[in-house]
Amino acid sequence: MPRKKAQPQWSPQSWQGKNAIQQPNYPDPDQVARSLEQLSKLPPIVTSWEIEALKQHIALAQKGGAFILQGGDCAETFDDCTSDNIAQKLKILLQMSVVMLYGLKRPIVRIGRMAGQYAKPRSDDLETRDQTSLPSFRGDLVNREPFTTADRTPDPDLMLRGYERAALTLNFVRSLIDGGFADLHHPENWDLDWVQHSPLAQEYHKITESVSNSLDFFESLSGGPVHTASRVEFYASHEGLHLPYEQAQTRFLPHRQKWYNLTTHFPWIGMRTAQLDGAHAEYFRGITNPIGIKIGPGMTADWLAGLIQLLNPANEPGRLTLIHRFGAANVDQHLPGLIKSVQASGAEVLWMCDPMHGNTEATKEGYKTRRFDNILAELETAFRIHTELGSYLGGVHFELTGENVTECTGGARGLTDADLRRAYRTQVDPRLNYEQAMEIAMRIAGLRSGRADQVN
Ligand code: PEP
Ligand code: CO
Repeated sequence: MPRKKAQPQWSPQSWQGKNAIQQPNYPDPDQVARSLEQLSKLPPIVTSWEIEALKQHIALAQKGGAFILQGGDCAETFDDCTSDNIAQKLKILLQMSVVMLYGLKRPIVRIGRMAGQYAKPRSDDLETRDQTSLPSFRGDLVNREPFTTADRTPDPDLMLRGYERAALTLNFVRSLIDGGFADLHHPENWDLDWVQHSPLAQEYHKITESVSNSLDFFESLSGGPVHTASRVEFYASHEGLHLPYEQAQTRFLPHRQKWYNLTTHFPWIGMRTAQLDGAHAEYFRGITNPIGIKIGPGMTADWLAGLIQLLNPANEPGRLTLIHRFGAANVDQHLPGLIKSVQASGAEVLWMCDPMHGNTEATKEGYKTRRFDNILAELETAFRIHTELGSYLGGVHFELTGENVTECTGGARGLTDADLRRAYRTQVDPRLNYEQAMEIAMRIAGLRSGRADQVN
């Protein structure tokens, strides 16, 4: 690693001296200040103990000792904050993780892209329809989707509404987990009703039976519960896009003498906002959380080296996760060079594959979709490239839902373009449905032929 360069003084608001892109233009600064003041007084959503625990898990995954499963919606909506939606998302992530645990035989760390994934970057500040231009919809944290001036005007109150829903979401997830819902002895809790007839159901039930039998076996040997194995931990992530919102819950914790973003465990920087001299990089460099960086085809080795140096000058394990998303057709061209340059620098990072965002396409009818085979192909290629280069792909990132939607094509039931109109519900990016997500998990775990089981 190059020697640590002295950086100018950081504070939670030092990003304000830099160019902040993708931020809403609120018409009334006083109202923004009032909302932020209230937001900063509310209790945090996560604690530094949890954040530090996740960092340790990521550090372990960097060395090949654990595998990270991150998944959720491209954008959460306030309307989706219902018990059913939250429980279903938790169920699918738990089911995938038990399959991966069984196949990969290493701890699986679960991160829900939820409880705060409410702000979205947009290509244009304005959207024009019939000669009327209004602010683009930037997610429920910022404004409302209907194309009216009142709805599209950014409303600072929505930051409070979003924070409250994020807290409700994580509160419910925590209760489910602490209450025994996520106990590996009882994976039947995670069954989703409509799945009984799935071609994958039988295979899945064999796996869960075997996991709970093994737990019973170890517990009868040791005479007590296998605590760390039988209880699962769950973490939350979102894109740290809306800087005033993130800043309002950034706190200095005297017992640690460090700053933490307490809206989420694992905030990430999108590539659109990852400029080295930009406001987002400035904000992220000062917080202690583990952070993710999205890496697409436009990322150069120099840019990445600059980000790593700026965001992790001490080369702390567990701090940085590089979430790569090149597309099945481009991963061979882009990934090896970046892996080699990171290896040459000696930087400690976790590599995570997002096989969704590089594989988005539109059908003839205009549906935004992703083809299961391309998603799988990117994953397989990524595993192969990492293995060939002596690197470790230690995690995956999916956009998925526990619902029976038809947004991505292919998978066990061979969904076609014509099926998309049947249950296409996403507001933003197409998500894997339950069966497609389970099939991917089985492939990663090496439990189905066709294989993505090159995990080294
Ligand atoms: C995303 O991560 O869901 C996404 C759409 O990313 P980006 O806008 O950064 O491509
Ligand atoms: Co997305």
